[in-house]
Amino acid sequence: MTDRSTMTKTSSGFFVSAEAPIVAANPVATPTSPAPDILRCAYMELVVTDLARSRKFYVDVLGLTVTEEDDTTVYLRSLEEFIHHNLVLRQGPVAAVAAFSYRVRSPEDLDRAVAFYTELGCDVRRNRDGFTKGIGDSVRVVDPLGFPYEFFSETEHVERLAWRYDLYTPGALVRLDHFNQVTPDVPRAVRHYQDLGFRVTEDIQDADGTVYAAWMRRKPTVHDTATTGGDGPRMHHVAFSTHEKHNILAICDKLGALRRSDMIERGPGRHGVSNAFYLYLRDPDGHRVEIYTQDYYTGDPDNPVITWDVHDNQRRDWWGTPVVPSWYTDASLVLDLDGNPQPVVARTDTSEMAVTIGADGFSYTRASEEETLPDGKKGEYKLGNQL
Ligand SMILES: [Fe+2]
Repeated sequence: MTDRSTMTKTSSGFFVSAEAPIVAANPVATPTSPAPDILRCAYMELVVTDLARSRKFYVDVLGLTVTEEDDTTVYLRSLEEFIHHNLVLRQGPVAAVAAFSYRVRSPEDLDRAVAFYTELGCDVRRNRDGFTKGIGDSVRVVDPLGFPYEFFSETEHVERLAWRYDLYTPGALVRLDHFNQVTPDVPRAVRHYQDLGFRVTEDIQDADGTVYAAWMRRKPTVHDTATTGGDGPRMHHVAFSTHEKHNILAICDKLGALRRSDMIERGPGRHGVSNAFYLYLRDPDGHRVEIYTQDYYTGDPDNPVITWDVHDNQRRDWWGTPVVPSWYTDASLVLDLDGNPQPVVARTDTSEMAVTIGADGFSYTRASEEETLPDGKKGEYKLGNQL
């Protein structure tokens, strides 16, 4: 539940508080074992149904660098990366996510991961040789929310190509930035990931305390992962950074030139949440990829938590551009540790799409005028009112 009396409303229209004002009604137990010390999101293992087609998208269109590949798997990295990979494309029968992988500080943190998740009764498996090439001793779990999480410390170092400007394309992807997970109960997820050591930077709520989404970090950016309320567990997107906004526009231009503009799902635009410039693409299997740049530093221990009103029409796009319905409804399946798709559980709290778009929803640009707007101006009233 939200207690807005603990928050301060800012001149930009959102609220700030010292700690995330989110309380879980149905929390996952907090283990007595300490959590592993997570450094950052490191890579995602994606199962794709046509490896050659996916390779074209991620290598020829988006320009990721191939570290290594064989008949079934392609290992890709961004230009500033020095670990073996940020994305694994693996040929398989069902498009899905096999692992959300995080790098931890030391080998001892893998022992901590085993103890932490064993105490929670999760499926926990350790592979001293790693589950993928280029990665050493690793722990994979199905976490209490149903997501396949991986932790590793040792990795093969590869050349950081940051200075190889001869390799840069106009839309060059320079870092992996974050994951985004769809889960039915956002407060439950937030509480569990706080136990795992994450700190909330921003969230979206309504005045009744329903939480629609939350952003959580280990590295000092807005997030390493976010939880989006919806039917889950599913993967909403994986995000790569560019240096500049114009790199994102160049990706749009390139997709147009290739007659692949239908891969653009949403954007380009500027987020309210995170303040980042963004673009959402859909890969050949429908996996969603965000291109993202220029969020802000969050590393101080008293970094203010930002809470957005779900009815604020600038929360998802600062310019008020409507969110397309597929962005709310579509997401990728996730796998258990045997490679089977995890069952999807329906969200029971109200959906963000329902409360903001169409006949049952409303949004405002100026909260002070919310009550006085004519009907035609209510809802996602720029273009979304047509949806
Ligand atoms: Fe994102």
